[in-house]
Amino acid sequence: MKSAYRNLGEFISELEKAGELLRVKAPVSSDLEITCITDLASKAPGGGKALLFEHVRKSRFPVLTNAFGSERRICMALGTHSLDSLAQRLDRFVRIGPPKSFRQLAGMLPMGLELIRFLPRRTSRAACQEVIYRGEQIDLSMLPVLKCWPQDGGPFVTLPVVITRSLKTGRRNAGMYRLQVFDRNTTGMHWHIHKDGSNYFQEYRKAGKRMPVAVAIGTDPAVTYAATAPLPRGIDEMMLAGFIRKRPVRMARCVSVDLEVPAEAEFVLEGYVDPEELRQEGPFGDHTGYYSLVGDYPVFHMTALTHRRNPVYAATIVGRPPMEDCWLAKATERIFLPLLGVLHPEVRDFWMPWEGVFHNIVVMAIDKEYPGHARRIMSAVWGQGQMSFSKAVALVDSGVDLKNPRKVMETILNRVDLESDLYITEGVLDVLDHSAPDPLFGAKIGIDATSRRPDERPRLKHAAGQIPADEVIEKTLNNTSALLSAFHAPPLDVCNRLLLISFAKDGRTPGLTLSERLLRKRVLKTFSILVLLDAGIDLRDYSLVLWKVFNNVDPRRDILRQGGRLAIDATRKSAEDGHTRPWPDDIEMAPEVAESVRKRAKELGIEEFCGPF
Ligand SMILES: Cc1cc2nc3c(=O)[nH]c(=O)nc-3n(C[C@H](O)[C@H](O)[C@H](O)COP(=O)(O)O)c2cc1C
Repeated sequence: MKSAYRNLGEFISELEKAGELLRVKAPVSSDLEITCITDLASKAPGGGKALLFEHVRKSRFPVLTNAFGSERRICMALGTHSLDSLAQRLDRFVRIGPPKSFRQLAGMLPMGLELIRFLPRRTSRAACQEVIYRGEQIDLSMLPVLKCWPQDGGPFVTLPVVITRSLKTGRRNAGMYRLQVFDRNTTGMHWHIHKDGSNYFQEYRKAGKRMPVAVAIGTDPAVTYAATAPLPRGIDEMMLAGFIRKRPVRMARCVSVDLEVPAEAEFVLEGYVDPEELRQEGPFGDHTGYYSLVGDYPVFHMTALTHRRNPVYAATIVGRPPMEDCWLAKATERIFLPLLGVLHPEVRDFWMPWEGVFHNIVVMAIDKEYPGHARRIMSAVWGQGQMSFSKAVALVDSGVDLKNPRKVMETILNRVDLESDLYITEGVLDVLDHSAPDPLFGAKIGIDATSRRPDERPRLKHAAGQIPADEVIEKTLNNTSALLSAFHAPPLDVCNRLLLISFAKDGRTPGLTLSERLLRKRVLKTFSILVLLDAGIDLRDYSLVLWKVFNNVDPRRDILRQGGRLAIDATRKSAEDGHTRPWPDDIEMAPEVAESVRKRAKELGIEEFCGPF
């Protein structure tokens, strides 16, 4: 397997050789149609294929999507046979201790030399500047920037490597922050308040200076991945890319700003952000599967647009998981395990289920050593870089295989005492969290499903009685409220049984009222966890149910705990629930586009992703 691609073109060739690329030759529109096709491919078994749209209407440049969108392709992108083996390579470096002998020191020299090889290098040969536009010549409408979803505020650059430099330390940052195209030479700059780009922006704001920014689109895959990785502030993402590639990233000076960009990028946008200027950005169909709401963000003014002679425009589509970004996140989960292990050696593994859209839940397997150990790790997670956004943290013993989701679920549901193993606290929340009453800060839940030691108080177990007949449950629900309709008890062999219940919201009845009534029903006592879901949700689609629970629940407001049992309101919230913020819509493709793509499946060559008609 190739471990380093000079540029995106080389990666595309390798994908094609491996049978992982589909060339779509028929004309397509960058307005929704590419999204619709990419969404079908992403959700096909095995993540479909990378798609190269060769003929995009109104643009002369081809578009690449879904290039990272499967286990095989993310491994190809990062030049590794498995993400775990890449993590092991990193583990060797982070565990270097002081040498105990001269021999050991000599043994470390090759590693030291290897480290030097990761450092980015300057070059004067900049393929990304084969074509240069400046000033009035700049026109973003020549790029096939995608309007991804129907309610999007406009076209968005979705796979950009945004490069900035700290005014204080001079250190470079590369982060992936989407850009909404406003006109021929300005875009939004959507760095969330917690991110390094935003931190550097504040430095320029305080100093009253314009901030130079460069954006590389279509870099070699290691650089693209590195821009998404949650590295500590001040550590250059180009070093991580160099480590992954086992070769330095070649950087070229920009033509109009004092920054450097990956020399082999397909396109580069150069310019500046004026710290005093903010503009409304969004909405945008986001990776949560919901639209992220309109917000004020800085504006990026372009001073140059450069590109290779025959560039490919790289893009991604995010939306309800699984999508391509799930694989970028999977890489982070695996690669960052050794780094987490340095700080917390008792953490043996961790898993961010896709339904949790990265920030909503993390499951960790630990070697428990003392009472309260699990709580300590929860606190550590909530204080750790971007992991601190995690709304829920669930801990299990290290013997539990996190690669087996059903087993993890059963372990948690079998073990936890719902009175003493759930811990509610508060902390920072991801900008994209929509369930908390206030943005950016709110409730979090820790679930301790590790085994209890002899020196800890034993758990109280819920006595699960006989499951009542369906008719009895149905009658009980009807007697509770006419708004409760369907129900389903997942067939799990666990002590804490679940009952999923459909709730047709009427805009007047708070979920909490129904939760209270339901917990009082004697017939339902055999179920320790009652979950309310919006009517219309297929209660047997467990991935959908988990996605709703992880996204829609504010742990303090929406979880009612009584007598060792829980009622969880995972419905959409509004004023009657005390939720005064806007609630975002689920992302859905425009039916006419979906219909037209399905009709054109043969012409587009995508029948294999379309499923039965
Ligand atoms: C496809 C994709 C799009 C993203 N878009 C954004 C975005 O618009 N804003 C943002 O703050 N983070 C976004 N992220 C997450 C950041 O790239 C990620 O948190 C990264 O670590 C930020 O880098 P930083 O720590 O250097 O700021 C995106 C990630 C991916 C994979």
